[in-house]
Amino acid sequence: MATQALFPTLVYTGRLRGRGWQALNARLLRECRQLRADDSAGRRWSARNYPGGYTSYGSANRMHRLSPTFAALARALDARVARFARTLAFDLTGRDLVMTDCWVNIMGRGAAHGVHLHPLSTISGTYYVATPPRSAALKLEDPRLERYMAAPPRLAGTRRARSPWVQVAARTGGVVLFESWLRHEVPANAAAAERVSISFNYSWF
Ligand code: NI
Repeated sequence: MATQALFPTLVYTGRLRGRGWQALNARLLRECRQLRADDSAGRRWSARNYPGGYTSYGSANRMHRLSPTFAALARALDARVARFARTLAFDLTGRDLVMTDCWVNIMGRGAAHGVHLHPLSTISGTYYVATPPRSAALKLEDPRLERYMAAPPRLAGTRRARSPWVQVAARTGGVVLFESWLRHEVPANAAAAERVSISFNYSWF
C-alpha cells in the first residue's frame, strides 16, 4: 500500500545571512524601540488591544515605506517570498506579489497574541529582531482542525507534519513565511527581556 501526502501546508523558515545582517538587525532593533517611544497613538492602541506589549499594527503599519532600514529588510524578504511563491507553484504572471503591510511587535513578559489569520493577504510572515531566552514561539494550527469530527487524537510525540499544532521557534535573524489563511498565535511570552519582531503581509493585486 502506498500513501501520499496531498494538499500539504507549506511553511518557510530561514534566516538573514551574509555580510551586514547583524548591523541591519541592530538598526532595526533601535528603530523598533524608537518607534514605540515616538508613537503615542500606537501605545494607546496597544494598551487596549495588545496587553503587555506594543505593536504598531494599528498606527504605523507601512514601515517599509517610512524607513530605509525597514525597506532594506523588505528587499531581503522579497527574495525569500519570491522563492516561497515558486515552491507553492503560484502563477504570478501579470501581477506582482508585493509587501503591503509591515509593522513592529514588542512583547514584554506575559504578552500574548491570540489565534488569528491575515485576511486580504496572500503571504504573511515575521522577522525576529530580538529573541531573549524563553521567547514565545510562533504556534501554527492545522487548517483542517474545524473539519476534524470523529478524528482520534494524535499519538504523543508524533512527528511535526502529523501534529494539529506546531511551534516554530523564534530566533534572532529568523524569517517565517506562511500563506495568510493559516491560523496562528503567539502564546504568552516567558522571556524576561523584550521579544521584538517585525510582521508583514504580501498581497497579490
Ligand atoms: Ni499574525
